[in-house]
Amino acid sequence: MSTRPILRWTLPVLLALLAHPASRIEAQTAAGQSPVVHLTAEQDRQRMMDLLHITSLRRGRDGRAPAGSPNAANYDEAKANPFPTLPDPLVLNDGKRVTTAKVWWSVRRPQLVELFDREIYGRMPSHTPKVTWEVTATKQGTNDGVPIITKSLVGHVDNSSYPLVKVDIQLELTTPANAKGPVPVMLEFGFIGPRPVIPGRPAPPPPPPGPTWQQQVLDKGWGYATLVPASVQADNGDGLTEGIIGLCNKGQPRKLDDWGALRAWGWGASRALDYFETDKTVDAKQVGIEGHSRYGKAALVTMADDRRFAIGYISSSGEGGAKLNRRDWGEVVENVAGTSEYHWMAGNFLKYAGPLNWNDLPVDAHELIALCAPRPVFISGGSLAQGDGWVDAKGMFMAAAAAGPVYRLLGKKDLGTTEFPPMETPLIDGDISFRQHSGGHTPLPNWPTFLTFASRYLHAPAS
Ligand code: GCU
Repeated sequence: MSTRPILRWTLPVLLALLAHPASRIEAQTAAGQSPVVHLTAEQDRQRMMDLLHITSLRRGRDGRAPAGSPNAANYDEAKANPFPTLPDPLVLNDGKRVTTAKVWWSVRRPQLVELFDREIYGRMPSHTPKVTWEVTATKQGTNDGVPIITKSLVGHVDNSSYPLVKVDIQLELTTPANAKGPVPVMLEFGFIGPRPVIPGRPAPPPPPPGPTWQQQVLDKGWGYATLVPASVQADNGDGLTEGIIGLCNKGQPRKLDDWGALRAWGWGASRALDYFETDKTVDAKQVGIEGHSRYGKAALVTMADDRRFAIGYISSSGEGGAKLNRRDWGEVVENVAGTSEYHWMAGNFLKYAGPLNWNDLPVDAHELIALCAPRPVFISGGSLAQGDGWVDAKGMFMAAAAAGPVYRLLGKKDLGTTEFPPMETPLIDGDISFRQHSGGHTPLPNWPTFLTFASRYLHAPAS
């Protein structure tokens, strides 16, 4: 084996170590621990490629390039399905068909979980540190005239195994003050306070007129909560040796099948749910998860991973979320394997952006949706005309439809059709549901539809 790849990543590691402040190194030496390794996203991704013995990856598509130019994203349906045959969620690895719920739970589901763990999102460590929740403030107030109680919380992650990395999870919970008992809660991956401006990313479209999503939730007698993903794990490759991933790895870079940020964010949501189980104002059996865009991907992973979540609102999750990886429309596998997104996934995922291809993926998005079964999920996307073509609403619809056989096997209802519906047609009669709204890259226009769907499953305490 050539030594060059090893040098390519050990050199930056050595340089990073040299650049490390002496005082920190002293503290670390005293504790007998190796310091945190600092790599840039480029260096870390290159290190993953070296471990995979891959010398180059295919380039992602350019969503802004004019049609016809090299690397422009495809928005032509005639070219969108180069790999129309999907892996069958109900065929075991040995080729036998799954015909009972028992075999789904005991054999097929664990097989799919293993494939998603190893190849796509990475494995969550078998032991993760304990989180101690602290209520740092409790405020009474009103939202649109409804009396509310808002708790600010910090989840202190036990870092006694590696004190050099500190993780404090930020969470905010609001419940109606006059509730007659524990209430359902919608947990959103998002921001507390004003939304940070991310350089190079367009500002979200203005909210539609009418009540905010939080007010719509309160109107049902439910509560709402926000978890800040970046307080669990940074949204970049440079941060992979810190946050919960870095803490579990004691500051060292990831192995090829270690978890990425999407799964780490989902882990944070599960810890929030642990807290809800201890808070008497919340009915922890009726907690839903919602996320948009990269957080929509995380919300779907959360639903698949933690069967305590009762329902999921998966907004504009696109590639790496509910969109079929085998579809050529908008964002593709190669984009998610790029330097600014690869950290969401396992290192092994890079293989599918070269030398392997989308069709080599052993699983696809319909099987991730199937891992949520029999619990209800709502898949949402906006319109191409308003700038949400990148997320491929039709590719997400196709995945939702193809998860149907698993829902049916478990006695639940599928989407009800395999025909892509006209814009703004809610498909909400089954347990998998879908609607494409006519707005842009935003979850807001579909909240009313989601809440109509969710009201079949979540119920405020009787007054
Ligand atoms: C980029 C990225 C998407 C992601 C989105 C977002 O557009 O390509 O995969 O969902 O950012 O999170 O806003």
